[in-house]
Amino acid sequence: MKKEILTLGIESSCDETSVAVVKNGREILSNIIDTQIPIHEKYGGVVPEIASRNHIEAISRVTRESLKQANVTFDDIDAVTPTYGPGLVGALLVGLSYGKALAYAINKPLVGVNHIQGHIAANYITYKELEPPFLCVMMSGGNTQLVYVKDYTNFEVLGKTRDDAIGEAFDKVARVVGLGYPGGPKIDKLAKTGNPNAIELPKTHFENLDFSFSGIKTAVINLHHKTPDINKADLVASFEKTVTEILLENTKKALKQTGLKTIALAGGVSANSYIRNEFLKLQEKGIKVYMPDIKLCTDNAAMIASAGYYNFINGKQDELNLNAVPNLKL
Ligand code: KG4
Repeated sequence: MKKEILTLGIESSCDETSVAVVKNGREILSNIIDTQIPIHEKYGGVVPEIASRNHIEAISRVTRESLKQANVTFDDIDAVTPTYGPGLVGALLVGLSYGKALAYAINKPLVGVNHIQGHIAANYITYKELEPPFLCVMMSGGNTQLVYVKDYTNFEVLGKTRDDAIGEAFDKVARVVGLGYPGGPKIDKLAKTGNPNAIELPKTHFENLDFSFSGIKTAVINLHHKTPDINKADLVASFEKTVTEILLENTKKALKQTGLKTIALAGGVSANSYIRNEFLKLQEKGIKVYMPDIKLCTDNAAMIASAGYYNFINGKQDELNLNAVPNLKL
């Protein structure tokens, strides 16, 4: 195999159109991210049909920019690696169809990538020394799960949310208390001015390693409706603290169960400053804690190109009839 392998990652599963060129799964040559957040802001959340249309408008331009910034041509690319799920079906289809057409036109292998695998791979770009096995605490807008990363392409889901994803809970709480979309970063900022111990909120526990965030989300919303003069900063700080405790409790159980001593955070919510600080405290107990650069936590194609590289060198190649799978599992 060649010494230098370049993968072209394509990401369009939600509201970011992104194309990246990554070398050997670890080094970003370009990572262009065209976000639609300002477009969806006025609707208070992502409107799937609008997202698909904007991906169509952006995808060719973003690809050209990505190649230009990486200073490469299509000839230099070894594999085209688009996200094929999970995500919004219409949005996924844009990046995937573009990737398939491109792979055919430039006669290069097509290697589909699971978006969750991409979030995990964001850690490989940030930490050149990180190798599996480790426990990944995956927390994004659409997913919350504890993943035993046995190898680059071999995963076991140890626990997952039974209802809302953690990011959904952040976004819903933010919307109800009037902070707008996307709620996560806004709660992060406001919570810094509040008292995280001010309000006691409910936690749902299960025998196994599953999560539930809908109870705490509803409790916050009800409190806000029933107590109009409640201190908003205290409310969101208490919410942030309680969901972090829920994440940490299951993480500690999973570490004990697997005997692993290394964890990596992943997904958009892992950009949260309170969550990052609380997880770093596990280092005092001898656990190695990794977390992607903030800009690689949320959706981007560099993480997809990294995961695509590992799929590719492990012999995964897809046919051109690969379809989008909105509820794709790891
Ligand atoms: O990983 P991501 O970009 O999309 C999915 O793959 O689902 O995650 C988006 C989620 C949104 O719910 C957003 O509110 C949340 O990540 N998020 C945050 C922060 N930054 C983004 N949540 C809490 N604190 C943040 N700083």
